[in-house]
Amino acid sequence: MTRLDARRVSAVLHRDLRHTPPVAVAGEGAYIVDAEGKRYLDASGGAAVSCLGHNHPRIVAAVREQLGRLEYIHTSFFTNEPSEALAQALVDRAPVGFGRGRVAFLGSGSEAIEAGLKLARQYFVERGEHSRGRFISRRGSYHGNTLGALAVGGHAGRRRLYAPILVETTQIAPCYAYRGQRDDETPEAYGLRVADELDAEIRRLGPETVAAFVVEPIGGATLGTVTPVPGYLARIREICDRHGVLLIADEVMCGMGRCGDWLVVAQEGISPDIITVAKGLGAGYQPIAAMMASERVVRAIEDGSGQLAHGHTYMSHAVACAASLEVIRTIEEEALLDAVRARGEFLSRCLQDALGQHPHVGDIRGRGLFQTLELVADRETKQPFDARLRLAANIKATAQQMGLICYPSSGTADGVNGDHVLLAPPFTVTEAQVEEIVATLGRAIAACLPSALAG
Ligand SMILES: Cc1ncc(COP(=O)(O)O)c(C=O)c1O
Repeated sequence: MTRLDARRVSAVLHRDLRHTPPVAVAGEGAYIVDAEGKRYLDASGGAAVSCLGHNHPRIVAAVREQLGRLEYIHTSFFTNEPSEALAQALVDRAPVGFGRGRVAFLGSGSEAIEAGLKLARQYFVERGEHSRGRFISRRGSYHGNTLGALAVGGHAGRRRLYAPILVETTQIAPCYAYRGQRDDETPEAYGLRVADELDAEIRRLGPETVAAFVVEPIGGATLGTVTPVPGYLARIREICDRHGVLLIADEVMCGMGRCGDWLVVAQEGISPDIITVAKGLGAGYQPIAAMMASERVVRAIEDGSGQLAHGHTYMSHAVACAASLEVIRTIEEEALLDAVRARGEFLSRCLQDALGQHPHVGDIRGRGLFQTLELVADRETKQPFDARLRLAANIKATAQQMGLICYPSSGTADGVNGDHVLLAPPFTVTEAQVEEIVATLGRAIAACLPSALAG
């Protein structure tokens, strides 16, 4: 610490090269403590990661225990007990249609998406459908920052710099009722209309060229917890089946209990061909993600080459898998999925009560402990604030100064304009903490709005 202070310029390549963030030195449940002793209420688990809060004794003990036994093996030589048990635990909690699927463990959400895209391509090659290599996704989506994941991502602002080196993909509209549903449409009619864009896009490209459609069942980082309208994902599944296209559900952020069940796709009554999870899987105690392949996909490879044409050094890391296994056990033994539903409703109600009538809160949405406020300059027209105001970034910094960690983002409306604040507190959050989160967030928003608009 003193060395860091003395040198003043950090050797870490920080996200903002002109600013070294506070040094976090400890975590206690819903709180993070920095080197100055300041405490922050962690209302977003970083980026929806810390679902059990910080320094949870059960997970710390499980990590220690596994470290003392076996830290690492390479998966081309061995398997290990924690990864076998964790894979079975995930398959047991997958939707019924997933069958006897299998799971690969990776280090990040982006790696899981890369593995999913590659597996989809391999699936078709194994079946002799060599022309299938195109991917379709949704505008405004986020699937990670490695090149393949960024290529299927639909956030214009994040893609722009790398556009010349991304593989070509195409995007359809998201299911984003606040901005997309017409006044003369029911939610169901809206959902079918936007889902049918997938049918049109597959036909336009030629079904024999399309490998998979990639979708966040609940949009996370970039659109801010946009939930699907009833029937939307079922129609998506139907369209994929009609054209022999695989469905990849990216539950890296919304999965693993965040929305009140292990997976959102199960809540929506569909079974994807490939599912990715990360964030809450390791709850931040270890970097880990999973790419889950359904029985149908696995069987094509078992009956074909029998070889997974992909791999990384740190796959199935024993300590990471042991941590995740204990996260799942803790959530189940402490009935935390019930807590997510109850506390999620409470959070949503508190947000509505405190900010629902605010002249610059256009929408409050989400599911479980995955909630978002979308901010607008004008509630009537839904006109976003001028991007030059950097409203989301200012709210993030102001809230942090006030001792609250939340997860604002910009580009919500069209990839460049629009601001939202995402909340994803730990599953163990108390009602008093929820009230504190909402009160502090309200103050941070008020402090950041242009003074003429403070409302
Ligand atoms: C839905 C989704 N997919 C993939 C990713 C990428 O995960 P990672 O940052 O662990 O690579 C994220 C990260 O926010 C995400 O929200």
